[in-house]
Amino acid sequence: MTEIIYYPICSLEKLPVGERLFVEVDEEPIVIFNFNGDIFAIADVCTHDQGSLGDGELEGYEIVCPRHGARFDIRSGEVVTLPAVNGISTYPTRLNKGMVEIGVEA
Ligand code: FES
Repeated sequence: MTEIIYYPICSLEKLPVGERLFVEVDEEPIVIFNFNGDIFAIADVCTHDQGSLGDGELEGYEIVCPRHGARFDIRSGEVVTLPAVNGISTYPTRLNKGMVEIGVEA
């Protein structure tokens, strides 16, 4: 079984509803969303051409890559539309004593 290590990122107050935060965990660029109170974390790298994904528009649960428009579901990482064909990584999140934490495989 793969071990997951949770890293504290920030207090929940620093990530209000509708906001996003860019971080690096284990040298991986990650963007974290507070979507209506639920926290989601995805890799900030589009699988189409390795562009930064995190600045894209969020339409419902879909993030739209600002470079060529591929869409991904931030809950699962699944690709929704071309030109990307592969999904992106997602990371488990949790709240621990008011802190947002992200899980990364050990
Ligand atoms: S780099 Fe994201 S769609 Fe091309």
